[in-house]
Amino acid sequence: MEAIKYTAGKLTLLDQTLLPNRVEYKEFDNYRDVVKAIKTMQVRGAPAIGVTAAYALVLAALEFRELGSSEFKQKMAVASKELADSRPTAVNLFWAIERMKKIWQAENLTNGEIFETMEREAQAIQAEDLAMNETMGEIGQELIGPNSTILTHCNAGALATAGFGTALGVIRAAFKKGKVKRVFADETRPLLQGARLTAFELMEDGIPVTLITDNMAAYCMQQGWIDCIIVGADRIAANGDVANKIGTYGLAVLANFHKIPFYVAAPYSTFDLSIKTGQEIPIEEREHDEVRKIGDYWIAPEKIEAINPAFDVTPHSLITAIITDKGLIKPDFEENIRKVLGYGY
Ligand code: MRU
Repeated sequence: MEAIKYTAGKLTLLDQTLLPNRVEYKEFDNYRDVVKAIKTMQVRGAPAIGVTAAYALVLAALEFRELGSSEFKQKMAVASKELADSRPTAVNLFWAIERMKKIWQAENLTNGEIFETMEREAQAIQAEDLAMNETMGEIGQELIGPNSTILTHCNAGALATAGFGTALGVIRAAFKKGKVKRVFADETRPLLQGARLTAFELMEDGIPVTLITDNMAAYCMQQGWIDCIIVGADRIAANGDVANKIGTYGLAVLANFHKIPFYVAAPYSTFDLSIKTGQEIPIEEREHDEVRKIGDYWIAPEKIEAINPAFDVTPHSLITAIITDKGLIKPDFEENIRKVLGYGY
């Protein structure tokens, strides 16, 4: 399933807010609408947001290519800022914007050449992401024992990436080897990415999946039903602390208590070695109505106080291993992240 498609100045996104009820693609030809699509989560998931932002900048370069060089660069800076402000937690967004910035800031290229180079770069980012997921799948499946039941949270699948997925990529690779008996998918309130997206994706692939509400996870672990947990990540600090969908931290605490391995799968673009610990990761606070409502339906009094942090941080001490495209990272995370990703990264 492809969430992001690009051809000749047109970006097409699968509107994930409509899944699983409707499979509907929307076309975009200007970056401002793409910013809205990211904010409203028509496209979501850390790597997918990065790929989408890269294409949004391609659309901006196309729109502004007839301008003089300095005005072109000014407009590109504004577009980059608007994209950077769309969602604060997933570092892949900033990583992709920086990669594109190196091109539009070049002094020795015409606007037309900048556009063409940016188009190739965005396509490369997308292709690399898919390749990294396949590599992570291969590396990660080694951790999965025969006949495993795996719990996952939110959606870290094809829909959240350029394809195949991070956490779901590992599950897909292990399933192909005949090692996966069943996946338990947390529904993932408030926006139900587990129920709407992970359940949908796995069923499409014929991978046996059981949907649970978030508050059933402890019970399932206590029953001895869960062999391991695999989740994705939105940002990983230099010490191995992981920001991921709200509820991930709770799962890691439960896994620790029940002595169940807790794995995180993420490409190198999700690491932010400029920050030492997870405490420095900005956590997105979303509209409180997302908690008061399910879809358009009020499930609480309209005026009730609510909070809506979209992510939480799992301390590295609760993580068994991080699966990356560069290799498996085990504790000591601080040292091994640098070793596996390369000191220069
Ligand atoms: O708010 P979302 O749906 O963008 O959150 C997504 C997650 O938390 C994913 O687990 C993470 O981005 C990894 S996706 C490969």
